[in-house]
Amino acid sequence: MARVLLIVGGGIAAYKSLEIVRLLKKAGHQITPVLTKGGEHFVTAMSLGTLAEAQVHSSLWELKNEVEIGHIQLSRGADFVLVCPATADLLAKMAAGIADDLATTLLLATDKPVVVAPAMNVRMWQHSATQRNMAQLKADGVRVIDPAEGEMACGEFGPGRLPEPQEIVDQLFDLLN
Ligand SMILES: Cc1cc2nc3c(=O)[nH]c(=O)nc-3n(C[C@H](O)[C@H](O)[C@H](O)COP(=O)(O)O)c2cc1C
Repeated sequence: MARVLLIVGGGIAAYKSLEIVRLLKKAGHQITPVLTKGGEHFVTAMSLGTLAEAQVHSSLWELKNEVEIGHIQLSRGADFVLVCPATADLLAKMAAGIADDLATTLLLATDKPVVVAPAMNVRMWQHSATQRNMAQLKADGVRVIDPAEGEMACGEFGPGRLPEPQEIVDQLFDLLN
């Protein structure tokens, strides 16, 4: 059984994170979900929390949570962190060490392995800024589940799609072992 801190970013593929939670729970893992402000536009805390059977964290500024758990403890109380989907914005913030919300603060404060599953429009993925950020993250030891190639929600074709949930789960444990 692993304790997974799951950060769900604001991409169209966020709906797949719900199925990933279901698969991880079915395999006996414990999930602590964190939903970014962007992520809240794509999936609800209600769906995520119900499937994870856990409280969803989304703000750095909730006094009750801070007193009872604390953001540092949240980032340390997991065996690893999975960012899925990892948006271009989240990847950029991670590469730059920005910590301006709960998710990015946890990512900077964690001492556990971090796995990112990027998903975005092909041009966003191929943009030199994103590729530069990915190179930096890899150099920093972040593990990457590469995006798949195919037709995207936006109608374009190329790399940038989030792999299917079962594939994410399989690759996740391959990367961690
Ligand atoms: C309909 C729609 C779909 C989007 N899909 C993606 C996406 O798949 N990947 C991505 O990196 N950004 C996507 N974006 C842009 C992000 O939502 C935006 O950069 C946001 O600030 C990311 O928030 P986050 O840092 O909380 O993930 C999308 C925006 C909209 C309006």
